[in-house]
Amino acid sequence: MQIFEQFLEQNKRWAERIKGDNPGYFQQMAKQQKPEMLWIGCSDSRVPAEIVVNAQPGEMFIHRNIANQVIATDFNCLSVIQYAINTLEVKHIVVCGHYNCGGIKAALNQQNSDLVLTNKWLMHVKNVYRLHQKEIDSLETGEQRTNKLVELNVIEQVHALSHTSIIQEAWDKQTAPTIHGWVYDVSSGLLNTLISLSHLDEVHPIYRYESVSAEAQL
Ligand code: CO
Repeated sequence: MQIFEQFLEQNKRWAERIKGDNPGYFQQMAKQQKPEMLWIGCSDSRVPAEIVVNAQPGEMFIHRNIANQVIATDFNCLSVIQYAINTLEVKHIVVCGHYNCGGIKAALNQQNSDLVLTNKWLMHVKNVYRLHQKEIDSLETGEQRTNKLVELNVIEQVHALSHTSIIQEAWDKQTAPTIHGWVYDVSSGLLNTLISLSHLDEVHPIYRYESVSAEAQL
């Protein structure tokens, strides 16, 4: 049996088992979604968002890309963020990186001419490296350097979220969402926390939009 056939079989058995335990489950699920968390993670197959936090269907809205990046010109990621905040009204956003990330490792190496598009995507991670070059270069092993950049990249993406008009508009009106930076350890299955930002944190003036409330006062 090929992998796609195996997955289709497993899907049937899974749906039957769920229905067996709770006959109304899928009818209930079909009505609406009201997740409280948006997860922005890496595409890596070893970091399946729902599984590592034991979340159920309906509990997390999810966006994944190579090296869990939030890039100001990426309409895919920005659309997910906008919908999560303005329509789903999520309370929390997690940016979750992971140690031994292949994207981060690649970003610390020469560009690969077989992966021209991927190189462009990873250019942003190379920029994070240059911001913290001294700290990263001072580490002894390649693995240490990769894992330090994994952490710094998560922190940069949390800040990048706070630089979007979507988050700033939300923070002008309400207290949500809180943005969390986490890193997943593939070798232990555990999550570590790195940073969190909320409406109480200052956004650096060069990234600040004029506030909606200030405009309304004029
Ligand atoms: Co990765």
